[in-house]
Amino acid sequence: MILDVQTGMDNAILREQSTPVENIDREIKKLIRDMKATIGPNHGIGLAAPQVGVNKRIILINLPSDHFDESGCEIAPLDKHIVLINPEITWSSSEQVLFEEGCLSLPDFFAEVLRPERVKFTALDEKGNVIEAEAEGIFARVLQHEIDHLNGVLFADKLANLHMKQPDKLYI
Ligand code: CO
Repeated sequence: MILDVQTGMDNAILREQSTPVENIDREIKKLIRDMKATIGPNHGIGLAAPQVGVNKRIILINLPSDHFDESGCEIAPLDKHIVLINPEITWSSSEQVLFEEGCLSLPDFFAEVLRPERVKFTALDEKGNVIEAEAEGIFARVLQHEIDHLNGVLFADKLANLHMKQPDKLYI
């Protein structure tokens, strides 16, 4: 089932801290199926459960081979649904890079965001197996963006000088 995507800087669901998955039960499996059904039609390359209204620590990444030559992570082939449950960054490189991000939940914005270039992470896959891997490039970027969603953080929060339009502001 294709789910509605939550949008907006002040959306309460998007701003909540999501809770860890304790058991990969039928309800969680259905949520994962629905997230897979939702990401494609929305042209997403990453989707976090709160974006479809559920504050659980689940993310989905799918990097299309017509846009990317490689994912940047050996456990993540292109054109595959990569489900990560309770993902955690365990190490980040001190080198940071700028990369343009957009978000299904903030459809009107794109901006360059500074983030660590490489990360190590742990997670469970959808069968409950433990994953430990390193990521760089686009996978590292999407992974960090999606984990932010689990913590109620939107990429626009990372921009030093982005403010909503206000009536008393002057324009140049
Ligand atoms: Co997003």
